[in-house]
Amino acid sequence: MRGKTVLVTGSTGGIGKETARGLAALGARVILVGRDPVRARQAAEELGAGGARVEAVAADLTRQREVARLAAEVAGRCDRLDVLVNNVGVNPPRRTLTEDGVELNFAAHVLTPYTLTRLLLPLLGGRVVNITGGIPGGPIDLGNLQAERRFMGWTFSQYNHTKTMLMAMSLRFAEEVAGTGVTVNVAYPGHGHTPMNRSMTMGSFPYAYRPVVPLLRLATPYVFGDLTKPARSSIHLASSPEVEGVSGAYFSMRSRRVDWPASALDRRNQDAVWALCESLAREVVA
Ligand SMILES: NC(=O)c1ccc[n+]([C@@H]2O[C@H](COP(=O)([O-])OP(=O)(O)OC[C@H]3O[C@@H](n4cnc5c(N)ncnc54)[C@H](OP(=O)(O)O)[C@@H]3O)[C@@H](O)[C@H]2O)c1
Repeated sequence: MRGKTVLVTGSTGGIGKETARGLAALGARVILVGRDPVRARQAAEELGAGGARVEAVAADLTRQREVARLAAEVAGRCDRLDVLVNNVGVNPPRRTLTEDGVELNFAAHVLTPYTLTRLLLPLLGGRVVNITGGIPGGPIDLGNLQAERRFMGWTFSQYNHTKTMLMAMSLRFAEEVAGTGVTVNVAYPGHGHTPMNRSMTMGSFPYAYRPVVPLLRLATPYVFGDLTKPARSSIHLASSPEVEGVSGAYFSMRSRRVDWPASALDRRNQDAVWALCESLAREVVA
């Protein structure tokens, strides 16, 4: 990764920070993003301590104007971006709207990857890696894209729903940029004991899973405490020569290419999610 520049969102903590650490260790220049400027600066100092070139930008990536400001800042810092890892994630316990009036999961997991990638396309010469999560792959409910009708159900959660929508949007994006040298793929990281995980309340889990949550909470720090593991699939997709030129593919936590869920492959779903992103991003994407 020497000579390459990488942007990882949500990378001053959690899985994103480990992804950034791994890519910096491979020689990349890495730009970190988190909301808090102090945490961002400290993370850049920590990851850059061994001589790696690591910088930080503070931005709240649930807000479209902040996404646009980040893209402008990146364009001011580099002529070319080799890798964009859309890692930032949220998991609120109830339906919440952002300052833009967008449902928070949809904003962080679908709209921001769409907008940031669109805005950075003139700089992007390589790979876009989008991070899914939870239990993706259920149906995409076209009447409920922003959880207008339900946010949580027996096995349904808007978190999982938006991660499936991210997959559908990524497939459509891969098609849009085919032949330009930009690739778009999705990685599933697996579980990690991260700030997001620690802050999740019972309300963040679908009803069917709630009985096992206390056990999961006890086990998570021990079983999922090593965050280098969930960072592996994104590091692989961002850096491995094995995936050079591969686009529109989905990779498991073991960095193996796996089948897309049917709902992500469904053209009507892709088109509906794409159209909503286009409409919500219209003020910042020309
Ligand atoms: N943890 C898991 O078990 C797991 C499993 C599967 C998939 N995933 C996915 O993996 C990705 C990373 O998850 P994680 O658990 O590492 O998340 P996390 O613990 O919430 O990540 C923390 C990082 O994200 C930044 N961040 C949070 N909200 C932000 C915002 N609105 N704008 C900009 N930066 C923001 C935080 O910095 P500040 O606090 O300073 O903003 C910090 O750098 C997410 O997409 C998640 O859905 C996680």
